[in-house]
Amino acid sequence: MSAPAAVIRGLGGALPERVVTNHHLSALMDTSDEWIRRRTGIAERRHSSETETTSALATVAAQRALASAGADSAGLLMVATSTPDKVCPATAPKVAANLGLRGVAAYDVSAVCSGFVYALATASWAISSGSVDSALVIGADTFTRLLDPTDRATSVIFGDGAGAAYLTAGKAEEPGTILASTLHSDGTGEELIQVPRRAGAFFEMQGKEVFSQAVSAMSDSVQTVLARAGWTANDVDSLIAHQANVRILKTVASVTGIPGSKAEIHLDKVGNTSAASIPLAMTNAGTKGHRNPGDKVVLTAFGGGTTWGAIAMTWPSMSVIDPH
Ligand code: UT7
Repeated sequence: MSAPAAVIRGLGGALPERVVTNHHLSALMDTSDEWIRRRTGIAERRHSSETETTSALATVAAQRALASAGADSAGLLMVATSTPDKVCPATAPKVAANLGLRGVAAYDVSAVCSGFVYALATASWAISSGSVDSALVIGADTFTRLLDPTDRATSVIFGDGAGAAYLTAGKAEEPGTILASTLHSDGTGEELIQVPRRAGAFFEMQGKEVFSQAVSAMSDSVQTVLARAGWTANDVDSLIAHQANVRILKTVASVTGIPGSKAEIHLDKVGNTSAASIPLAMTNAGTKGHRNPGDKVVLTAFGGGTTWGAIAMTWPSMSVIDPH
């Protein structure tokens, strides 16, 4: 018998209530709506309140992914996050308990903006190995709590949110199947994106260097999964890349030969939501009717670590709730 395929059955997203526009930020620091839109493509983002914790947002996204799939349990639960509620324990067991899933295997995956791709790939390996028959993969981050409010280079980019995918074992020809994945890291770049362990430390990013590494790492990993899936760039219906900067998304499309019009853009509404960015962009694509079951989709991310990777999959058959 062939190994089971990992098939996405549902997607969900959750966003904090508070919308922070470029105009809000222009009143607080030396920036402008024009600069932020032109250099990043972002128009607004969401900032979490005290009660909109990473676990709270993750729980709502997971509930919506379960509802989208018509499911009520999972054999494995991962929360990709670099902004856990507490340094320890992990956020995932709390989210599992919130969902009524006491006893389930639950742990966090820390790969910053690549976290969802890391967690989705490893969940698909767990399903394909026959170890579990279903998994909830959640990406959730609340980085705005760690930003220096006077640092215009980071404050204009990041927003908070959560997104989730629910997978079960199935057959490779089913829409929603994970067909290929590739994951990588290079710890020599650990200082490019970091929150140092010292009192009062803020999030720090060397934006220009991250920009160029993100383009080459994501382009390489997209090409790897295209080859593994047996697809050409022209076969791709949608490129859902980590939503950091619209210029990065367009450049990755151009380097890999995927038409720029196939790059899914969601950062205009939410900014860079780190591990939540890809599942939120997927959920948005699902609610806006951008995709059809069976469409060929490539996910790719780059983030702190440094870490990066990509996944080739077909678009699932499901309906999703709009998180906006
Ligand atoms: O999520 C993990 C992955 N993260 C990323 O992929 C982020 C990658 N990096 C980027 O997206 C971009 O590097 C940024 C959006 C962070 C910055 O854009 P940039 O085009 O690389 O700008 P820059 O840092 O080269 O700055 C250009 C100019 C500078 O002024 P001078 O020195 O030319 O006078 C900056 O001081 O723009 C200035 N600047 C700003 N001006 C208005 C930087 N930030 C701002 C701002 N508003 N918010």
